[in-house]
Amino acid sequence: MCGIVGYIGKTKAVDFVVDGLQSLEYRGYDSAGVSTIIDGQAVTTKQVGRVDALRVELESLSINKTAVAVGHTRWATHGIPSVNNAHPHFNSDKTIFVVHNGIIENYQELRTMLQSKGYSFVSETDTEVIPHLIDLNLKTEKSFQKAFEKTIEELDGAYAISALHVSEPDSLYVARLSSPLVIGVGDGEHFLASDATAIMDRTKKVIYLDDYEVAHITPDGLKIHNIRDAVQVQKEAELLDYDAEKAALGDYPNFMLKEIHEAPQTIQSAIRGRIKPEANTVKLGGLDNVMEQLQFIDRIVIVACGTSYYAGLVGEYLIEEIAGIPVEVQLASEFKYRNEPFSRSTALLAISQSGETADTIAALKKVESYGVLRLGIVNAVGSTIARMTDAGVYCHAGPEQSVASTKAFIAQVTVLTEIALNLSEGRTPLYKPLMKELQALPDKVKQIFESDGDIEKLAHKYKDYVDFLFIGRKYGYPCALEGALKLKEISYIHAEGYSAGEMKHGPLAMIDKQFPTFAIATDGELLEKTVSNIEEIRARKGKVVAIATQGNKSVAKVAGDVIYIPETLEQTQPLLIAIVMQLFSYHVAMAKGHNVDRPRNLAKSVTVE
Ligand code: M6R
Repeated sequence: MCGIVGYIGKTKAVDFVVDGLQSLEYRGYDSAGVSTIIDGQAVTTKQVGRVDALRVELESLSINKTAVAVGHTRWATHGIPSVNNAHPHFNSDKTIFVVHNGIIENYQELRTMLQSKGYSFVSETDTEVIPHLIDLNLKTEKSFQKAFEKTIEELDGAYAISALHVSEPDSLYVARLSSPLVIGVGDGEHFLASDATAIMDRTKKVIYLDDYEVAHITPDGLKIHNIRDAVQVQKEAELLDYDAEKAALGDYPNFMLKEIHEAPQTIQSAIRGRIKPEANTVKLGGLDNVMEQLQFIDRIVIVACGTSYYAGLVGEYLIEEIAGIPVEVQLASEFKYRNEPFSRSTALLAISQSGETADTIAALKKVESYGVLRLGIVNAVGSTIARMTDAGVYCHAGPEQSVASTKAFIAQVTVLTEIALNLSEGRTPLYKPLMKELQALPDKVKQIFESDGDIEKLAHKYKDYVDFLFIGRKYGYPCALEGALKLKEISYIHAEGYSAGEMKHGPLAMIDKQFPTFAIATDGELLEKTVSNIEEIRARKGKVVAIATQGNKSVAKVAGDVIYIPETLEQTQPLLIAIVMQLFSYHVAMAKGHNVDRPRNLAKSVTVE
């Protein structure tokens, strides 16, 4: 959460920073700000709301030649979205400017100490202690760098920080602990960002900072110091191995709809070069170097959050059924604090679109000393999780901008299917049929898009309800959980996901004519049982929208409204069901007039606990 962008080099620093902030807006959009130095004078501009407002304000100032700048887009943690709480924060003399992503856990203590020494605060943020603390440390340390490093050593928590000092216009100082920061290397210039998307237009040469590293960046070079180990670190720039292709809206009204519509190519990209029915193989290059270790794995623990967690639950059904390996899926936020036995033959599999989710990173860190295999399914190339795992499979879904995860879920479930097939070593009767079906799926998704008009009509019919229940069984159960999450996060309608088999154990009590149910009733061995659940709901005057398989007759007889998906294997149904639920939620939210890409109170990447 929160995005940091910085530049040091030749000129147009502010322009680069503002463009970068716009591409990082998905990390937070409560306020934005930028600091630069012009002719030895610091200039700071901040605005509440989106980066556009900041851009307009900066344009009115006609700032042309700037060789250094830092900027920030905020997702509020400490204090409301306001100009005072917006970054960059500064010391009382306005000579030190700091942007920060993460949480300073000991900020209260530091604030009290600083106040006792006469420092006064203008914001409610944890960040503001940093410029004041640097200011204090400058009184005893020989250089700004030393004062900056001493300050970093005094902070507890998680952070990516960048600082500017007005008397050093040729320097940018940065530090990182558990929060991503990437430095782009240019010709006589350096770029800085929370993630590579903000800099990939300008350079493909990047250096990732690791935990406890502090860097002093100038236009022509950078020096990295590991403050925990007290050593200088030499790092070669890596080449970003993906096209500098930024997500552009094209003709779509928003990113969510665009990303839902990217599902066919998402599946295509996730299977390209991996699924080879003619050779009867499922080859996952990212797992090549751990194939031998995988032979000895007798249990997999999947850790993830939100939509990635629900993809993990689908993966549990897939891997157990197809590969016969026991799987347990845990919310990363729970896993990291849990004391559980963990044997060397258990592999930890982290799933994350962004690769930067704090809880998922913490789960991986927890098992660092266990000597277990750590795997990843990640979309963002070069992200923290991608780099900290022993092996993994990229989703290759391309940048996902909308806060609501859509195509990432599709890619994750596709990759999980491939992993299940790969681990089965061809021993499952589903091996060939599933490979074939994965190849057929992009066209089946397109068929769903053809019925989007009907889904939209239903969304309009149901948009004013304030509660919604989602139910499903087996592969449909995690889909129900994901459907409920999608609806609540963008339409703000209260929605709960349940296993249909649980209805009589409690949820049925909620049902009346004001409490509709979205029932996943696609063809499968448990369909009749779900049909009975629907009947029980209808008997209590509950309205039901069902998802059924084309050609099915029984569901329409009991459900009030039915949306059909093309026939597919039970194991691949989640990929089609998800599209319907994404479209349904999308249309409900649009009908309610919400900003689907930037839902209230949320950010795309949850990089703090
Ligand atoms: O980047 P990640 O996949 O690790 O993110 C996990 C969740 O924060 C994310 O899926 C979140 O739940 C989405 N807003 C759901 O649409």
